[in-house]
Amino acid sequence: MIGNGRSDVHVTITGLGAYAPERVITNAELSQLVETSDEWIVERTGIRERRIAADSQALSDLCLPAAHQALEQAGIEGKDVDLLIVATVTPDMMFPSTSAILADRLGATDAAAYDLSAGCTGFMYALAQAYGMLAGGLARRALVVGGDVLSRILDWSDRSTVVLFGDGAGAVVVEPSEEAGFLAFELGADGAGGEHLWLPGSGSRRFEDPDRFVKMNGREVFRFATRVLVQSAEAVLEREGSTVDDVDVYVPHQANVRIIDHATKKLGIPSDRVVINVDRYGNTSSGSIPLALADAQEDGRLRQGKLVLMTGMGAGLTWGSALMRWTMGLEAPSAEPATPGQTTRPPAAAEGGAAA
Ligand code: UT7
Repeated sequence: MIGNGRSDVHVTITGLGAYAPERVITNAELSQLVETSDEWIVERTGIRERRIAADSQALSDLCLPAAHQALEQAGIEGKDVDLLIVATVTPDMMFPSTSAILADRLGATDAAAYDLSAGCTGFMYALAQAYGMLAGGLARRALVVGGDVLSRILDWSDRSTVVLFGDGAGAVVVEPSEEAGFLAFELGADGAGGEHLWLPGSGSRRFEDPDRFVKMNGREVFRFATRVLVQSAEAVLEREGSTVDDVDVYVPHQANVRIIDHATKKLGIPSDRVVINVDRYGNTSSGSIPLALADAQEDGRLRQGKLVLMTGMGAGLTWGSALMRWTMGLEAPSAEPATPGQTTRPPAAAEGGAAA
């Protein structure tokens, strides 16, 4: 399990962008494809509609507008980026990497570019990697993108998966900063649970009956999700010496409203601090957390000084949290000041080293 970094270099997010395809698929439309209903989907998942990529769109086509928006917000251009990570389980193709394709389309000719696979937790893993590369001095400006076109790997006759997922992407620019920024990370994986959410037949392992579609044991993943969302959030808060009361904005992976509600209640985070957009996008996998961040920025909740807790979970099975002090945009009103002692330090080194 990866834990706190040890660095005097502060690192933060300086630009944010998101993109979801235009085509909306409602629950009513889905109920014409499989035996389901709007009532069942809303009651069990909270999802009302999702976006689906056009036939002509591959992952890089979703990442490109999100990346442009993030670069614009940061006031930089593609050529200024020296590290580009795309977190995804649905790249344009196995190789070349979608990040190399994206780097070319952005003019990021000097960037090291690679894809990262950690299921729906991919964006959290990629953020931690970018933090590490910048804090360690290996890179100066990173573009971290999370996105998926899960509609391409779904069995559209399987009602247990098709109602849950959607397509989308989000991007952030990550740069060194005067003040932190990122405070702590907590990442983990439990490969023993891998077959509860997987795509057998998609790689070099030979299966007797290869399958090109996502297979999921919904109940097991539900149990896993409700457990790790709470444990990972508590662990990352503890590492930074913060409590849930300090959290201003909670951005959980958008898989299911029931999972989010469970975690929120168990953690004791008031519902007005929780970002939820799964009703409009479904589960966009690696795109979920950056899309939710973009929503929170748009509705004015992400302001300078706010303490932001993000937690993802997904295939692997994997999980990951990041705790950060938001440093962009408008300052929070003076009635809710940032806690100065917590803004000026990078991840405090836990006693006993980085790994927990
Ligand atoms: O990023 C991580 C990705 N995955 C997840 O987050 C998934 C986590 N799991 C879940 O969100 C939930 O387990 C589901 C939403 C997938 C399912 O909800 P549930 O409350 O766990 O339902 P269930 O699997 O226990 O199924 C209850 C019933 C079953 O019928 P019977 O056996 O009781 O007759 C299912 O066949 O609901 C049936 N069912 C459906 N009915 C209508 C399953 N899918 C559907 C559907 N429409 N789409």
